[in-house]
Amino acid sequence: MSKPEGTGALVLAAGKGTRMKSPVPKVLHPILEEPLLRYPLAALAEAGVSRKAVVVGHGAEEVTRYLRQNWPEVVPVLQEQQKGTGHAVQAAGEWWKAVETLVVLPGDAPLLNPEAVEALLKRHSESGNAATFMTFRIENPFGYGRVIRNGAHCRIVEEKDASPDELRVNEVNSGIYVFSTAALSRFIDRLENRNAQGEFYLPDVLPLFSESGLRVEPLLWEKAKDLFGINDPLQLAEANREMRDRILRKHLQNGIKMMDPQTTWIGPDVLLQPDVWIEPDVQIWGKTEIQSGAVIGSHSILRNALIHEKARLVAFCCVTDSEIGPGAKVGPFACIRDDSFLAGGSYAGKFVEVKNSFIGENSKVPHLSYMGDAKIGKRTNIGAGTITCNYDGSRKNPTRIGDDCFIGSDTMLVAPVVLNDECFTAAGSTITEDVPAGALAVARARQKNIEGWARRRKAVSRKEEEGWSRS
Ligand code: UD1
Ligand code: CA
Repeated sequence: MSKPEGTGALVLAAGKGTRMKSPVPKVLHPILEEPLLRYPLAALAEAGVSRKAVVVGHGAEEVTRYLRQNWPEVVPVLQEQQKGTGHAVQAAGEWWKAVETLVVLPGDAPLLNPEAVEALLKRHSESGNAATFMTFRIENPFGYGRVIRNGAHCRIVEEKDASPDELRVNEVNSGIYVFSTAALSRFIDRLENRNAQGEFYLPDVLPLFSESGLRVEPLLWEKAKDLFGINDPLQLAEANREMRDRILRKHLQNGIKMMDPQTTWIGPDVLLQPDVWIEPDVQIWGKTEIQSGAVIGSHSILRNALIHEKARLVAFCCVTDSEIGPGAKVGPFACIRDDSFLAGGSYAGKFVEVKNSFIGENSKVPHLSYMGDAKIGKRTNIGAGTITCNYDGSRKNPTRIGDDCFIGSDTMLVAPVVLNDECFTAAGSTITEDVPAGALAVARARQKNIEGWARRRKAVSRKEEEGWSRS
């Protein structure tokens, strides 16, 4: 075998998360719409740790699927039975034997930031320790392993194994460690499970290290919150709020303007350029990107949207998996979804739904319309109430409308259908056949006026009423 080299990180995520009271594996519970597991992986990546593995067990299939889709470089390692954190590290032995320095951390500590990982790695390499781990102080240490310091020797005692004196210690183990793998591989298989939970505890390797004269150092981290673990829904909600505040602060410092940060929600993977303006009650999720000068109106929800510069969402807009071009205007009350693209200067207005459609430059869909599977050219105007009848009950069919067209109000476009450049449709038409360039399509019953009909009807009903009141 070649010499172990470099730094790797092993994330422990096989546990059940009993206290979440949910069939969803704990590390897939969301913080700002992204699974818990995303956060430590992102912190490691930002700290420059590129080799990563995740120990999976409970809900292994779902967790592995998430990893494959979002972190293809991360290696999932199966721990079939969950016999404790030490057992999880044993299960991944084949993987970590190839690295020289191993970070071990729990998958349920989402507030961990890259600075903490960097500080831990720096301390480890400068000190010549065989193991360095992070601790913090907390007013109520319930549930955490307590750090029992005794000169050069230091051990962790778990809540369930601790004496009353030990329980009073409020310096606790974060579960985040760095090991020299040369030392770790000597001791990891010597763990025993004679404890209250009958588990193989990873922290039990620490005394084995120091008994052999290897240096172990607890690194006390002042910003305790960074290391908090998530075990129940209350802690999940608290971490959600903390993460949200951190993200908002970062954007505000970068020149993004928010009228009301208290009601603004922004996910961790959202990119905002300076000088974006965000009104109250806005949610921005997924891999959304918003460019300079764009305005996001109140009550809008964006998910995987690309909003170009100076675009404007007026209010109550939902934009999902879609792109809004430079200077385009949307809403109020518009829904733009499923790979739609509104080109520069275009407009989708009041009560308009656009699905999987392309609206060309400077074209307008101002009111009460549905554009589904449509491709619309430039400078075309779509009258109020126009609908693409794209679904025939089994298939979705396309509509094509050229440049400089004028679609009269309340036109039904029965797809598949093509309307060529510079054509008109008469209001209220049901278009079932292609319209040639420059033509007017009229497809509705011709109007007939019946002279005097309304007046005669009124006279009849007046007489009837008089008859009733006399009898
Ligand atoms: C652990 C530490 C404790 C520390 C705390 C910090 C042990 C024995 N105790 O306790 O000292 O204060 O973290 O949050 O390590 N896991 C596996 N396989 C298993 C068991 C657990 O992958 O067989 C994973 C879990 O999914 C979790 C992590 O390891 O992400 C920690 O396990 P958990 O049961 O939450 O340990 P704690 O009781 O919190
Ligand atoms: Ca935990």
